[in-house]
Amino acid sequence: MSAGQSFYLTTPIFYVNDVPHIGHAYTEVAADVLTRWHRQRGDDTWLLTGTDEHGQKIMRTAAANGVTPREWADKLVEEAWKPLLQTLDIANDDFIRTTDERHERTVARFLQKLYDDGHIYAGEFEGYYCVGCEEYKRPGDLVTPEDGEFAGRLVCPIHGRPVEVLKEQNWFFRMSAFQQQLLDLYETRPEFVQPASVRNEIVQFVKQGLEDLSISRSSFDWGVRVPWDETHVVYVWFDALLNYVSAIGYGEEEAEFERRWPAVHIVGKDIARFHAVIWPAMLLAAGLEVPKTVFGHGWLLVGGEKMSKSKLTGIAPNEITDVFGSDAFRYYFLSAITFGQDGSFSWEDLSARYQAELANGLGNLASRVVAMVERYFGGAVPSVGDLTRGDEFILDAVRQAVAQANDAIDRFAIDEALGATRTLVQTLNGYITDEEPWALAKDPASRDRLATVLGVAVLGLKTLAVLLAPVLPQATARLWPALGGEGVLAAQDIRAAVETGGGRVSLLDPPLFPRIELLDDAQ
Ligand code: ME8
Ligand code: MG
Repeated sequence: MSAGQSFYLTTPIFYVNDVPHIGHAYTEVAADVLTRWHRQRGDDTWLLTGTDEHGQKIMRTAAANGVTPREWADKLVEEAWKPLLQTLDIANDDFIRTTDERHERTVARFLQKLYDDGHIYAGEFEGYYCVGCEEYKRPGDLVTPEDGEFAGRLVCPIHGRPVEVLKEQNWFFRMSAFQQQLLDLYETRPEFVQPASVRNEIVQFVKQGLEDLSISRSSFDWGVRVPWDETHVVYVWFDALLNYVSAIGYGEEEAEFERRWPAVHIVGKDIARFHAVIWPAMLLAAGLEVPKTVFGHGWLLVGGEKMSKSKLTGIAPNEITDVFGSDAFRYYFLSAITFGQDGSFSWEDLSARYQAELANGLGNLASRVVAMVERYFGGAVPSVGDLTRGDEFILDAVRQAVAQANDAIDRFAIDEALGATRTLVQTLNGYITDEEPWALAKDPASRDRLATVLGVAVLGLKTLAVLLAPVLPQATARLWPALGGEGVLAAQDIRAAVETGGGRVSLLDPPLFPRIELLDDAQ
């Protein structure tokens, strides 16, 4: 496939104060599925992920552990964040760290440009700051508990801890100047912030009035130095957002930058404001294009609250992949939760869906069809002959699943795309049950009919392998050749149903999705 249009997708860069949990993993797999899908369409695709390493939160964590921030970050990146990508089978094209020199150079250059162009001024900041969020807070963002450890104090509702009072001479970004341009952007390009619930929240927020943003700090030094003022480091969010352009060579590799930018940003809705307000304002100030889309997905909840490191409710991704494998992890979170809404995880739900949809659904369908081709045709995939209306109906259903799944992906409705493949599995299973190839096999006069039924089933399964390759890279890499598929599966165009049969099957042993008995202590 030749390189088509650019599809540059990013995940948030994660804080290295702690190890990843399944919330971070959820973002990674969603981003990976979207990019694998676009790659399989022939788009010029690029997936960026990475880590956010400056700021007070990391500095304090490192100090509490008796090491330098850089030592702490190196350790977490190598021992936790990069291994996460292996655990989940993420095919990222780049991994950026905000401590990379290429990034620090870009931050300094970008800031200098904004300063030279009059978007930055010196002022005094007086207000509240939550180190957990690394965010300046308005009084309306905070709560005052009536009892408990922090009774009567101003507390960040996200981290459940008191905010800090800041009074500092800082450098400010004239963000207020972009209020109307941002409102126009949301109005004229509704696809800019998605889903609609997040978009509405952003519009309401900006309509209340945009203030200028303090973009430097002088009370600590773990960050990128402000180029014209050595006594200040750049505010961690201003630094972090720039990773999306520093990674593709902004200001250094113009051809690469032109080729990739603008991006699609996949983030959790907790950080949609930074991406849909501050970030486009920064880009507008620098005369750059704003992102194509900021998609704020929902939260994985535990007991009705956002799963989080700070509240110690995180589940490590490998607790799940060690039992079910990475394919099942990817499939479960993306199919069971509507992308863009909150969802809850439970071992029972995961186990039930694994059994029903993967083991008994796709896995069993594949094993049965392959075994029958082996048994009745000595392994040679039979050619499809005259089609009955029933066969036509099945082949139509296959083409419809392809169209529906692709349309869903264009709307970031990953769960709907998987709904289309799930329906197709059921349709094909029903077809086998209705046509009873084992009965046809008993009568030599039905030989052609048997060939057509199994030939149609193989085409349907091959199309499923193509459609599910982005979600189930390991299982489909076995399924495709087992159905007689030739060449690399990832090179099959995901927008078309497979029309070619032929080749030889090979038995799926062990099955694609073996039975898994949950031990009590895993629940
Ligand atoms: O905010 N459910 O990093 P972070 C779903 N460094 N997704 C979740 C989640 C949950 N319970 N918990 C976390 C930062 N996430 C900044 C980002 S980007 C320029 C800088 C995911 O380590 C989700 O994607 O706190 C969320 O937005 C992100 O992790 C926050 O990760
Ligand atoms: Mg966070």
